[in-house]
Amino acid sequence: MKVSFFSAQPYDKEFFTQHNKHYGFELEFFDVTLDAQTVGLVQNATAVCVFVNDKVTADVIKALAVKGVKVLALRCAGFNNVDLQAANNLGMRVCRVPAYSPEAVAEHTVAMILTLNRKTHKAYNRVREQNFSLQGLMGFDLHNKTIGIIGTGRIGQALCRIMKGFGCRILAFDLIANKDMEREGVEYVPLITLLQQSDIISLHTPLNEQTRHLVNKETLAFTKRGVMIINTGRGGLIHTKDVIDALKSGHIGYLGVDVYEQEEGLFFRDLSSDIIIDDMIQRLMSFPNVLVTAHQAFFTKEAMDQIAETTLYNIKAIMENKAAELSGMLV
Ligand code: NAI
Repeated sequence: MKVSFFSAQPYDKEFFTQHNKHYGFELEFFDVTLDAQTVGLVQNATAVCVFVNDKVTADVIKALAVKGVKVLALRCAGFNNVDLQAANNLGMRVCRVPAYSPEAVAEHTVAMILTLNRKTHKAYNRVREQNFSLQGLMGFDLHNKTIGIIGTGRIGQALCRIMKGFGCRILAFDLIANKDMEREGVEYVPLITLLQQSDIISLHTPLNEQTRHLVNKETLAFTKRGVMIINTGRGGLIHTKDVIDALKSGHIGYLGVDVYEQEEGLFFRDLSSDIIIDDMIQRLMSFPNVLVTAHQAFFTKEAMDQIAETTLYNIKAIMENKAAELSGMLV
């Protein structure tokens, strides 16, 4: 049985080939993203495996169904790039990896907070030039600061626990308050209260119609001047133009983003010799108080092992009519 992978990077090939020793599928890797143009590459595959920036629209799903594809396996947690209704209508099964390493994403979030705050990226370069001055490197204590965590699912909870260890006050906003988190001292508050009181705000909700552009001109108006905003969720959670305006005016003091609304043409590629046409990302990267990473929060060895194993297991279980046993079924 053949599984065709899109957006495949060398590390995908390495981890999936390793884990496939227990499954014995025929694996085929395409480095291009799946979209209406590239769907033609699929030949005789029973399953297609995609990642965060593949565009699995209704047209693409229809083309896959015509080619006999039965399973669409996402090797990620978020599924905002897939038309689930179209898949359902055509009887295609869709699965994902709901939890691989929430700690990987939470820990990268903390790395971004610490880098922006203590400016270790600048210090690294400075001392290599024998510049041992501290001018401009001053940070602030995280101890006793208030961090607002929007979305306390798996990743948000992992972040709450880490930030508790730093001695932060933790405010949370979610559709449902998590009792365990409350017992551990997390305070659930209305969104506006979180925006008003937080020194750092971190986004961990899925991207959907309710959360799209959750950080925008109106919501930013409630935040403290100098606030730090971290987005390791999805690019569409923030209105990039409004955020750039708030950086220019000095209202946002620090911004860390691991995701970007127009990241498809940029992230996961080496464009170091290319001219980047997207002025928005160029403007973002030009601020001294902005840190951009290219969707790497998930990228640990433990997470890659879990992603490969769960994805292959999902495909096998679906083909053996055991989909009901899977927590990662979407359709
Ligand atoms: P999860 O499903 O465990 O938690 C999401 C939480 O958001 C839930 O508690 C849910 O109630 C809450 N939520 C949903 N809609 C909301 C709304 N309108 N307002 C407030 N809260 C809302 O998901 P998990 O595993 O914590 O992941 C969160 C997101 O992180 C994923 O959807 C994905 O987009 C992103 N992600 C990013 C990665 C990266 O490498 N940068 C890696 C993995 C996930």
